[in-house]
Amino acid sequence: MSREELVAMTRSLVEHGAADTMEYADEIVRVPAATYTDTDLFERERRNIFRRLPLMVAPSCELPEPGDYKAMDICGVPLLLTRQRDGSVGAFLNMCTHRGNPVVNGTGNASRFTCGYHGWTFKNNGDLVGVASPRDFGAVDKAALCLKRFPVYENAGLIWSTLDQDSKLSIAEYLCGYDELLKAFGFDGWTLFSQRTLPGPNWKTAYDGYLDFYHLPVLHKDTFGADFFNRANYFFWGPHQRLSSPSKFVQKTGSDEQIDLTQMSDEELPADALTQGVWTIFPHISIASFYGGGQRGALISQLFPGETVGESYTTQYYVMENQPETEEQVKSAHEQFDFLEVVVRDEDYATGKRQHEALQSGQMKEVLFGKNERGGQVFHEWAAKLTHASDEELLEIFSGKQREAAE
Ligand code: FES
Ligand SMILES: [Fe+2]
Repeated sequence: MSREELVAMTRSLVEHGAADTMEYADEIVRVPAATYTDTDLFERERRNIFRRLPLMVAPSCELPEPGDYKAMDICGVPLLLTRQRDGSVGAFLNMCTHRGNPVVNGTGNASRFTCGYHGWTFKNNGDLVGVASPRDFGAVDKAALCLKRFPVYENAGLIWSTLDQDSKLSIAEYLCGYDELLKAFGFDGWTLFSQRTLPGPNWKTAYDGYLDFYHLPVLHKDTFGADFFNRANYFFWGPHQRLSSPSKFVQKTGSDEQIDLTQMSDEELPADALTQGVWTIFPHISIASFYGGGQRGALISQLFPGETVGESYTTQYYVMENQPETEEQVKSAHEQFDFLEVVVRDEDYATGKRQHEALQSGQMKEVLFGKNERGGQVFHEWAAKLTHASDEELLEIFSGKQREAAE
């Protein structure tokens, strides 16, 4: 992790905050309204974004122990994540190599999985270890019939996988060094307090909301308050963006006290100051710090397109530095997490649903992203670019060379 890079960002935010300025995009950007409603484009996004790019599939603390597993369905692809005996994570196509039945559903802990259809058994490292009634079935090469593997990568307490068995795209390269900065949260040693899944509008409509602060004091006036800041500066690592409010203050952990960062040396800057704001991981993750239950926590929101262009679903993970201990702390952590459900479900996604229905009318040709909404501008630019890129272009975009050139 580069603390220097985090400090430099904080200093830039403090300077802008002290001067009451913010960084603007060059111009107001117009995005075709059909971007949100076109069903052909939506299918292409499911295929070329969600089934081709690395996705953050789970925080490490969701699978802390050897044997822990989670089965998921992402855009029609059944994925099985397992924590293997050596501590590494395995990502597999959750389809029995006999006739394709998922070998397990949901979450749990197991060292092996027995398929519920005819009883073939696989170890949690994917090895096929048992064919039911083998003499009757006939001889098979078990080594060739292991569960199919997807690329997987774990860093900064987060797990990524690419739902393409033949992907040549390096997950680390795709992250453009961003994962090293995400280490500043310290998720590696954190625990999962609670999680839930919420239905939402079109995935880009939903994701737009994580990328702008412009709406905060308006849409969230009853929850965050009408005085909440509405400005953000943006920092970029390839398509991944952090947005943070230009301010010389940071709220002291667990209190309302505001710390004046201009009075602190670089060495004194606390973790909260270095990680404040919203950290997004393209194409579908948002991370923000909160405090509840007597200690640092974070909401990790993981968004996936639904079955139709107007639907998405979001899993909210509430992760905490330590599990709350007392009854009061547990209650306070639940209150914090429940508050964030209300904000997202009743304000962001309820608005997104109405917005999407209106856009479906086809009466409006374009939507606007202001100079203060750079996050949305950049997101839509990358979404279009990566949706339409060929496999070769995709590799070129994220090759190490390109990254160096951009730096
Ligand atoms: S499909 Fe799994 S054992 Fe037949
Ligand atoms: Fe919001």
